[in-house]
Amino acid sequence: MQTLRDLPALRAALRSLRSEGKPLALVPTMGALHDGHMALVEEAKRRAAHVVVSIFVNPKQFGPNEDLAAYPRREAKDAQMLGAAGVDILWAPPVEVMYPAGFATTISVVGVTEGLDGAARPGHFDGVATVVTKLFNQVRPDIAIFGEKDYQQLAVIRRMVADLDQGIEIIGLPTQRAEDGLALSSRNAYLTDQERKDALALPRALGEAKRQIEKGTGVEGVIAGAIATLAAHGFDPVDYVSLCDAASLEPMAVLDRPARLLGAARIGKTRLIDNIAVDPA
Ligand code: PAF
Repeated sequence: MQTLRDLPALRAALRSLRSEGKPLALVPTMGALHDGHMALVEEAKRRAAHVVVSIFVNPKQFGPNEDLAAYPRREAKDAQMLGAAGVDILWAPPVEVMYPAGFATTISVVGVTEGLDGAARPGHFDGVATVVTKLFNQVRPDIAIFGEKDYQQLAVIRRMVADLDQGIEIIGLPTQRAEDGLALSSRNAYLTDQERKDALALPRALGEAKRQIEKGTGVEGVIAGAIATLAAHGFDPVDYVSLCDAASLEPMAVLDRPARLLGAARIGKTRLIDNIAVDPA
């Protein structure tokens, strides 16, 4: 595996891979890789002859009071895992390569970005859409793979790729979970032992709410119950628990079409998100 940090080297390496005429997949990440990321890499390898993984902790998607400085960085270990998994290129540009002096462009997707994390983290999805477009332009993959754990991010990227004719097949992979059900996330590394135990309340509350809603119990009451359960387990604040249209992410008060139940809440210093499909009978 080649680890590359500048565009001329990336372009030369990609030219050589592309000369074989076979599909190329990109897995964009911010590093601190875990089994969830490695499942994306495995899927990329199943679907394409060549795989590029990017590691870039994107400052534009962190708010002023968020964890940019503390975000876990362990590129040497990440590179070892990716090399062992048979990745062709690790694309790890420094900030000044991604955003050179004078950089002045923002990609902004409306609608699907407005609620949920878009409301809780102003500017976050502009940062995501901008960097993902740059990664797409730099690597020009045929396929890009993202996890469903960041369900709103996946919806934003699908909208952006369709709207901008980016011509990349977007694959969403189901959330990878620890044995006890907690969604895998680089941010789980922040949790103390007690918080790790309490964190399980998030997938459990969403799972219970899904069962209730699918049984026909009123959405509003079920969501209020899930929020109360999270608060009782020490989550503070609970940013949202919300039932939304599975594609547009518009809020739903009645389960009359395929939906997604999404939650975000902070435990100690760590903000966790999770989501689950909710289907009408
Ligand atoms: O999901 C992530 O890790 C990031 O948001 C992404 C897609 C790599 C963009 O920085």
